[in-house]
Amino acid sequence: MPQSNARGSEAQAKAAAIAKAKAIAPDLTARIGSTPKTKFRGDPDVFGRLVEDHDRHRALLAMIEETQGASADRRKLFDELVHELKAHAAAEEQALWSSVLRDPATTDFARHAIAEHKEIDDMLADLAARDMSSSGWLRRFAGLKEEYLHHIREEEQEQFVAAEARLSERDLLHMRNVFEERKKAEKASVQIERKIKLKA
Ligand SMILES: [Fe+2]
Ligand SMILES: [Fe+2]
Repeated sequence: MPQSNARGSEAQAKAAAIAKAKAIAPDLTARIGSTPKTKFRGDPDVFGRLVEDHDRHRALLAMIEETQGASADRRKLFDELVHELKAHAAAEEQALWSSVLRDPATTDFARHAIAEHKEIDDMLADLAARDMSSSGWLRRFAGLKEEYLHHIREEEQEQFVAAEARLSERDLLHMRNVFEERKKAEKASVQIERKIKLKA
């Protein structure tokens, strides 16, 4: 594919992902700015699909920061973020990390990504349990945003790269289908946990 077309499809993939987030609160802007470099955006295999979700999540995180107090938009967007992040992480573990974990050459990469999923889960439960209208909520939310952006940048630049080198093209295409199926099922059954887990 000529480079300009490749760049065009990357931009299209990013715009489509942002549009999905925007549908939740159309009046807010979703300024995600420039995203860290990745070679996977727009790819037809599992990695392109995962980056599509990551861009959608980047947009949701940016939009929540635009909301005020305990507004309807903040509630709706945070609810969607929790559903998205939990379903994405579970489906990613089932479709990708379980295989990557089994291969001794990449065990540590999978373990790293899965450990961060647990940390993010705890941060989500903690935020869900706290008063959304307090100024402390947005400060804590900024901590989650930083942690999550770090997680997906590392996946795109380190763990996906290591996994790709060990998996066949056929595996990667199959994993996209598994991810697609599992993400839908997981999203439909997400339970929002509300529990203070972090210190004041
Ligand atoms: Fe992840
Ligand atoms: Fe991910």
